Amino acid sequence: MGTSIVADELSHLSNQIQEISDRKGDFTVIRNTPLRKRATAKGLIYGATSQHRILSSDKKFAARFAQECAILVPEGELKWRTIHPSPNYFNFKPGDWMVEFAHAHGMLFRGHTLVWHGSLPRWFADTVNSRNVEQILLKHITTVAGHYAGKIHSWDVVNEAIHPPHGRTDGLRNTPWLQLLGPNYIDIAFRAAAKADPQALLVYNDFGLDGAAYQDELRRTAVLKLLERLKSVGTPVHALGIQAHWWGGVTRLDSGKLKAFLRDVADLDLKIMITEMDVTDKKLPKDVILRDRIVAGIYEDYLSVVLDEPAVIAVLTWGLSDRYTWLSKYQPRKDRAPVRPLPLDAQLNRKLAWNAIGRAFDNAPKR
Ligand code: XIL
Repeated sequence: MGTSIVADELSHLSNQIQEISDRKGDFTVIRNTPLRKRATAKGLIYGATSQHRILSSDKKFAARFAQECAILVPEGELKWRTIHPSPNYFNFKPGDWMVEFAHAHGMLFRGHTLVWHGSLPRWFADTVNSRNVEQILLKHITTVAGHYAGKIHSWDVVNEAIHPPHGRTDGLRNTPWLQLLGPNYIDIAFRAAAKADPQALLVYNDFGLDGAAYQDELRRTAVLKLLERLKSVGTPVHALGIQAHWWGGVTRLDSGKLKAFLRDVADLDLKIMITEMDVTDKKLPKDVILRDRIVAGIYEDYLSVVLDEPAVIAVLTWGLSDRYTWLSKYQPRKDRAPVRPLPLDAQLNRKLAWNAIGRAFDNAPKR
């Protein structure tokens, strides 16, 4: 008996040492194959967001982007403020440039986003009221989705419509759309998008769905209820977009809860896309080696759970390189050290996070 306990402990210890040294190996050995290839090998799509301004001016970055990514999503070019800057004018130029860039490099293109409470143009509040709101929304969707029809892999038709802290029983966020049109605005938008672009995958996109925290559980429940309702009335929604903006040291993973949620979504006959992943390093130690390891670990732990679900078809990060990330502005570190939330560093070198994402693809079951 005594000997067997000692033997058990010894074997546990050696397993642990093995695990750590494996992990060390994993952290240092970097395969050379780009992420887009490693995802494609599993029937998955990898890509990222970028901007017209960046891709058209930073040639080195644009080349790396085309090498790593199989799908491009514009960070702001298709949002209302940019594409619909005055009531009767649509500015398609930056979006058109991006679609061409994507297709010229054999990449798919995503639309982001047709309905959101954010990035509304200044004219919106002065012009839109409960009498004209439906017509303005329909005109926007018909014009924008119609313009890009046939060129879009997937549209984020409605973005961030759930916000349980607003206190409604259906969990809907209190937005101008909800105030002016009621909960049906979501159905109206999906139906209009389906009509304008029958080929695109129509996505409901939201954040705060990944973690173990109680508020994430509330958000998951509300999103699921919304998707169930949309499906039950025949609203053409095809996929859930999970933004996956992680916070290093804050967001905790509950793989059981996450898996069950993904299964519930898949059971509604919906696909799932990870649409905007990044890892905020604001609360992590300054030491770059340690910080990069923690960030990489989060990518790998999360993606290995998520990619186990066959309904997941794509992973996008919200940016490719730390050279260009919204987090530099939105979540800067207190110590002013440059943030490191993405797969490539600011010099466009592959980081441990890149390695972690690649390994998650390598280990994912084939679609
Ligand atoms: C962000 C962009 O990255 C910023 O540059 C912009 O100023 C604000 O929007 N969820 C979304 C994205 O759906 O549209 C947001 O993008 C990030 C959070």
